[in-house]
Amino acid sequence: MQQTTRIAPSILSADFAQLGAEVSAIAAAGADYVHVDVMDGHFVPNLTIGPMVVKALRPHAKLPFDVHLMIAPVDPYVAEFAQAGADIITFHPEAGPHPHRTIQLIKSLGKKAGLSLNPGTPISAIEWLLPEIDLVLVMSVNPGFGGQRFIESSLDKIKELRRRIDAVSEKQGGRPIDLEVDGGINVETAKRAIAAGVDVLVAGTATFQGGTSKYAANIAALRG
Ligand code: DX5
Ligand code: ZN
Repeated sequence: MQQTTRIAPSILSADFAQLGAEVSAIAAAGADYVHVDVMDGHFVPNLTIGPMVVKALRPHAKLPFDVHLMIAPVDPYVAEFAQAGADIITFHPEAGPHPHRTIQLIKSLGKKAGLSLNPGTPISAIEWLLPEIDLVLVMSVNPGFGGQRFIESSLDKIKELRRRIDAVSEKQGGRPIDLEVDGGINVETAKRAIAAGVDVLVAGTATFQGGTSKYAANIAALRG
């Protein structure tokens, strides 16, 4: 029996003028994680937030901070995000040059390590790293912006990854490896992603739409 789907609101869709209050509000509304999208204007065509903001937000919720790095290079910033209060640090294998080394670095700092697959990136890019990581993040849009449309082929990728993750996990005595999806998640795509096997849904637009009074209902609706 699978555990209930967890929800990771992406604060990219929050009101940036009051991020601390927004983080507290999603925690009070039943979120399971705080998903932080870090963009460098180079690996992806947008600039967002850095470790100083993560540090400033940390006291606003007890929830794990799920930090999604869309930056290249990765290694020079890992320690700063860890110190700022990230609990899970996820990066893209293309950000290179040595993803295995980056995973070891994240783990050496006592944090969970995740790898993210862009829509065009095949599963084989992370296949040999599955035994080392705690999470796979499937991008169901091209990274860079909130509010984009869900890419349908992500569902087949999720199904295949579910199978491979379960096989690796079983070999490792049931060590948990989470499968998370990010981009274009709404009540309808959430249902299909859950059926395909995800454990965690990232949702920006769908969480924050309608303002603070709607957050709890928005989160509950996604859980299905
Ligand atoms: C995109 C980010 C996502 C994004 C999701 O690069 O990784 O987390 O904010 O936004 P929605 O849920 O609006 O598609
Ligand atoms: Zn993200």
